[in-house]
Amino acid sequence: MIIYLIGFMGSGKSYLAKELAELTHSSFVDLDQVIIAHEGVSISSIFENHGEQYFRNLESDLLRSITQDVYKRELIKGQTEQSMTMYTFVACGGGTPCFNENMDWMNEHGLTVWVNPSSEVLVERLEKEKSQRPLIAALDLEGLKQFIQVKLNEREAYYSKAKVTIHNTHIPVEEIFKSIIHA
Ligand code: S3P
Repeated sequence: MIIYLIGFMGSGKSYLAKELAELTHSSFVDLDQVIIAHEGVSISSIFENHGEQYFRNLESDLLRSITQDVYKRELIKGQTEQSMTMYTFVACGGGTPCFNENMDWMNEHGLTVWVNPSSEVLVERLEKEKSQRPLIAALDLEGLKQFIQVKLNEREAYYSKAKVTIHNTHIPVEEIFKSIIHA
């Protein structure tokens, strides 16, 4: 079963996906890292050299190919091992659900989880980590706050299609896992 973690930049998708994978002895894939490995350069360089549209198409293609790979692996495993339950946690990029019908596509192929901490938490984290993120790297604190407000508003229509929403990421990962699985 594939569990897609979606949510704004800085929401903690990758950290949580890793924790959940460790807890359940499952696999973890970070879509941004897959893109970086595929292109051999940073996300900022991809935006700079090819523009956002190129990045979005690549992101959608690789999202689909990760999913196909997991499906293939499950099929092979199903033939060799008797029904062992395993998960694959995919940490998406902040914009992944908002382009190329990706949100509907993820809902058709797995379980979607929106990691949705408060905007104050996002501001605090992104202020420290913005340099690697081309969409916010040049913003000062006020600009960052405004960007988060506007983009969150815009993206909520996509994020809210998730089957599960997690507001508090500071609770034990076991609790988070339970709330995902019992959804
Ligand atoms: C983006 C989020 C980033 C990365 C790219 C674009 C976005 O991922 O995919 O910089 O549009 O919100 P993270 O959410 O992992 O930072």
